[in-house]
Amino acid sequence: ADTLERKDLIFTYKGTVYPTTLCTAEIFKAMESFEARRDDVILAGFPKSGTNWFGQILSDLIATAAKNNKNETNHHNDVPEEFPYLEIGDPEKYERMKKLPPRRLIRTHMSPQNLPESIFKNKAKILLLLRNPKDLATSYYHFSLVFSPFPSYESWDSFFKDFMAGKVPWGSYFNYLSEWNKYIVSENVMPVSFEEVKENTYLGVKKIVEFFEFPLNEEEIHAVVQRSSFQSMKTNSKNTHGAFGDVLFRKGGVSDWRNLFEEKHNLEMDKMYKEHLAATTLGTRLNY
Ligand code: A3P
Repeated sequence: ADTLERKDLIFTYKGTVYPTTLCTAEIFKAMESFEARRDDVILAGFPKSGTNWFGQILSDLIATAAKNNKNETNHHNDVPEEFPYLEIGDPEKYERMKKLPPRRLIRTHMSPQNLPESIFKNKAKILLLLRNPKDLATSYYHFSLVFSPFPSYESWDSFFKDFMAGKVPWGSYFNYLSEWNKYIVSENVMPVSFEEVKENTYLGVKKIVEFFEFPLNEEEIHAVVQRSSFQSMKTNSKNTHGAFGDVLFRKGGVSDWRNLFEEKHNLEMDKMYKEHLAATTLGTRLNY
């Protein structure tokens, strides 16, 4: 991807920007045929909101629950050999996914209005991951510099412009949150924030366990919490993510935006927040 120009790296589909090397119009069309199941475990989160962290928590919960059920067909978590995001891969992946045993873990960066309808119709439960927009933008910027499928930037300032205008892969985080805000009245969608789970991971994981009704005891929950710590995921990242692990597990904390934002960035994001999110339920959950 190093030789691709910026204009070749992104394309627009139904008004949202996506990365060309990961998504295609063909896969979006094929995705419409995806049939969700009532017991699917859906993880929805904008890029850099902590989707790998919560993916680890959920796949561990599924694996532990399956062990407890002693159900031989119920032993697996992520889709093997399959890129774990619903909208990334080849158009045949939805056919292959039909054959997977429960409970399937399905991750997505998509806005809800662009997701297959069956997810909502069939009442699959969705964990909606939230992260403070300033920290998310900071994480996104650092990631863009080293992740070749995403356009890179000469400066934080030029990234910030594109981030605010929704010109980064998966579009505007502010639109994303406004759209999801329309769906959270459903009892099948549970928003959880990066910051609250960082502050008290045990309570956060317990909430997730109760929401998806995983049959786990306290001890097992503690073990899942331990295996999902930033340090243990970072240490294990060569096995789980290869060379990619080094760029993914960067700092894993809260408030790193203070090292990057200048006053003008701060003011501009505060204005965006006030205009689009402050009055929404999700807006009040962003640790703003
Ligand atoms: P930073 O860049 O701020 O360090 P995603 O998985 O959606 O791409 O999000 C990546 C962000 O989640 C990175 O943030 C990364 O460090 C952080 N992260 C990954 N695993 C984590 C963990 N176990 N605990 C806390 N943060 C984690």
